[in-house]
Amino acid sequence: MQKINTVYSLILAAGKGSRMNSNKPKVLHPLGGKPLLIHVLESAKKISHHSTVVVGHQADMLIEEIESKWGEKLNNLPNWVHQKEQLGTGHAVKTALNQLQKTIQPDDIVLILYGDVPLIQPSTLQEVINLCENYSLVLLSAQLDNPKGYGRIIRDITQSVVKIVEHKDASNEERAITEINSGILATTFANLQNWTNQLKNDNVQKEFYLTDIVSLCVEHGGGVGAYCLPDNTEIQGINSQAQRAQLERFYQKTKVNKMAEKGLAIADASRIDIRGELSFGKDVFLDVGIIIEGKVTLEDNVSIGAHCVLKDCHIGSDSIIKPYSSIEQSQCGKGCIIGPYARLRPENILHESVHIGNFVEVKKSEIHQHSKINHLSYIGDATIGKNTNIGAGTITCNYDGKNKHQTHIGNHAFVGSGTELVAPVKIGDGATIGAGSTIIRDVPLDDLGLARSKQINIPNWKSQAKK
Ligand code: UD1
Ligand code: MG
Repeated sequence: MQKINTVYSLILAAGKGSRMNSNKPKVLHPLGGKPLLIHVLESAKKISHHSTVVVGHQADMLIEEIESKWGEKLNNLPNWVHQKEQLGTGHAVKTALNQLQKTIQPDDIVLILYGDVPLIQPSTLQEVINLCENYSLVLLSAQLDNPKGYGRIIRDITQSVVKIVEHKDASNEERAITEINSGILATTFANLQNWTNQLKNDNVQKEFYLTDIVSLCVEHGGGVGAYCLPDNTEIQGINSQAQRAQLERFYQKTKVNKMAEKGLAIADASRIDIRGELSFGKDVFLDVGIIIEGKVTLEDNVSIGAHCVLKDCHIGSDSIIKPYSSIEQSQCGKGCIIGPYARLRPENILHESVHIGNFVEVKKSEIHQHSKINHLSYIGDATIGKNTNIGAGTITCNYDGKNKHQTHIGNHAFVGSGTELVAPVKIGDGATIGAGSTIIRDVPLDDLGLARSKQINIPNWKSQAKK
């Protein structure tokens, strides 16, 4: 009987992942917008006190990316252990134990996880850890209809686990067994150290198999427990892009269906991708093909049209985002109408009932209530007052090749179509800009600004040309 004290997670992630056909380490590939390894680290954090990751292939790239991009979110960075040569899972663990022994106690529990098994649930891991009170070694196993490729759990006539045989080393009889080894296991540090020191590589793959600790445990008179899952959803590993895509869909569908249970109205759970955190109010509707990234909040009665991409934004109640719009790092007030085909680049604040129409790009701008930019325009580094109308094809010329400049447009202004506003420039409250103007000087309150060449008509042009 072992009283469970400190739990250390040891995550194996040194493998090459050659089937991913990629220049980056396998565990950096994303699932739901997060690297595979982050999923595992987050689950590990919930049930263990420390996490150590065994790295090998492209270790520097892996560590740099996890620490720089995810360090803050993780709060606590894992320890990294380098396995220079990948001589097998047993060798990976042994390498890590050599470093861990400085801090770990013999009776502390070590939980082995895989960096490429991202959907493992903390509650399952807790069951495995709890069983360490009754067994010297606890495995997480699963019953699979198609167990090909996995290590098989071999039990004796009393149903006690006696060893694991790898698929490649298994006889036909053993291959018929459908209980497989997930690879996840837990035991004490002392046991693990003792057993991994005795591992040999006399097998088909010439690797030091961690799975051989099962028979070593039994030989030493220890009991092996197996917590058996009914299927493989949680323990599925990712070895190829096809498996990643399959698991992504499973992950998304599960996530979206949970939100639908909580009242999110969706057109189709198979055609939404949430690669971040989505908060939503009442009567929120999401059409097909939508991608949510970062932190997105949709207040009551918001409707998002087909194929929109929303990243780090807040959409006020009763707003309608029409199809094919892209919104990033922006806030929209109540009752806005955006799109179709609108692009809100970072740092926009749109107040109540602002309309942004098709092929309009807005960047780093504040637009006050009831103002409209409905067609084919670029508004950057600008402030626009309330009840102002910006005509089709208006461009704020905000960049002089070196610096960005501001455009200020007041309340109740009217900017005619085809206008260029060369910043820095101010358009006063109630001012009107004649269509086709290139405005280079401020236009005061209530004035008409007109800056285009005078039209000349040459009479009988067509009949002259015929002569
Ligand atoms: C392993 C198990 C098998 C189990 C299967 C579940 C062994 C011998 N076999 O087989 O029983 O059914 O997982 O998926 O353990 N790794 C290292 N260093 C190494 C070798 C591997 O860090 O030297 C890491 C890999 O990056 C990977 C994990 O360990 O995350 C598993 O290695 P892999 O080669 O995929 O083992 P399998 O042959 O799938
Ligand atoms: Mg594998």
